[in-house]
Amino acid sequence: MELNDGSCFGNVQVIAEASLANYESEIKKLSVGSSLRVEGEVKASPGKGQATEVHARSVTVFGLADVEAYPLQKKGHSFEFLRTIAHLRPRTNTFGAIARVRNCVCNSIHQFFQEEEFLYIHTPIITASDCEGAGKMFQVTTLDLPKLAGQGAKVDYALDFFDRPAYLTVSGQLEAEIFACSLGKAYTFGPTFRAENSNTPRHLAEFWMVEPEMAFCDIWGDMDAAERLLKRIFGDVLQKCPDDMAFFNERMDKTVIDTLQHILNSEFRRVPYTEAIEILLKSGETFEFPCDWGCDLQAEHERYLTEKHFKCPVILYDYPRTIKPFYMRLNDDQKTVRAMDVLVPKVGEIIGGSQREERLDVLETRMKEQGLNPADYWWYLELRKYGTVPHSGFGLGVERVLLFITGMANIRDVIPFPRTPGSADF
Ligand code: 4AD
Ligand code: MG
Repeated sequence: MELNDGSCFGNVQVIAEASLANYESEIKKLSVGSSLRVEGEVKASPGKGQATEVHARSVTVFGLADVEAYPLQKKGHSFEFLRTIAHLRPRTNTFGAIARVRNCVCNSIHQFFQEEEFLYIHTPIITASDCEGAGKMFQVTTLDLPKLAGQGAKVDYALDFFDRPAYLTVSGQLEAEIFACSLGKAYTFGPTFRAENSNTPRHLAEFWMVEPEMAFCDIWGDMDAAERLLKRIFGDVLQKCPDDMAFFNERMDKTVIDTLQHILNSEFRRVPYTEAIEILLKSGETFEFPCDWGCDLQAEHERYLTEKHFKCPVILYDYPRTIKPFYMRLNDDQKTVRAMDVLVPKVGEIIGGSQREERLDVLETRMKEQGLNPADYWWYLELRKYGTVPHSGFGLGVERVLLFITGMANIRDVIPFPRTPGSADF
């Protein structure tokens, strides 16, 4: 029998002799998916494929799995099919490996920030402010929607739970800034929600993001921190999950281990947006979405830059003010902001961040320019009014990082229970 307890990729080989009391009644009926406890002796294995095996003194069978009905058999299943059985897919090799690597990544993130003396803070899940100003938020309400729909009247939010419209957060950044501007360095790490109807292999409606925020830090310090964090994560995964990584390298993408190792030993390229646009224009490639200065980069552009042009992670910075949120610091050219995105091959953007606008008047102007009412962000503005400091931060999408590390192709497969348009099972 092959037994797996989830602690690592490998199974343990168990030898059960016919002399065991429950051999005929239970052991012979075991099939893929059954659960059992084995007590016995670990011995060197004469067979190939494993160094040791367990000779069972007793086998306790807890639950059999009907061969005819159990959906997971030893043959490979498509990821699409496995998504329909998300309650069973963690039992497969692939999803066990993803779960362990995901755990390792999250552990690394916490260790990294703790060692660098950031404070871990919990920012709210329910909020009244739209951090990204993009209006892609899920509303939270206790109002009786069917009843309201019948009335056809204007909704009175004074009657709602929070006395105002409330939403699931798209980012904990604004609250993280409060703590950075009070205590120095802080990070928040939690679920994030975006009601964007993008059915792509890189978007989820619910994903996990870690957001550090650093006082007295400019965009260069921000880039350094992002690069250090990513290298720490990649180094830990290679060191702590070698079997899982060997599996991804063998079965998903033959380059993942080499790529991660290479990144550990090289520096990320830092390139201004304007230069990136020039490279794209001169590339001779035909893109589905042609781009010019001022355009928001599409995945195809990001991938061209990292995969074909630079062949390494790239940090693009100084993006046009018109395509970035209100909180990014305006450059002296008045045309660009101190944004920085970290792009990697195959996945594109995995980190988005910036130096923050610390000047009260400029911030207010930028808010109005983007159709936001400064009064709604009075507390955020007060961080600039009282003892303002230059500060910076970024957001790292955990699932994007996992796509990059594992070579998995679809973001729905690197989160245990994906939430996407039209799908919220499990
Ligand atoms: O670039 P974004 O939108 O930046 C922010 O939210 C900032 N407030 C972060 C900050 O400065 N504190 O998102 C940050 C990262 C992206 O680079 C990407 O990795 C991930 O979050 N991300 C998503 N991951 C999965 N599905 C989505 N729909 C995502 N949207 C963003
Ligand atoms: Mg972004």
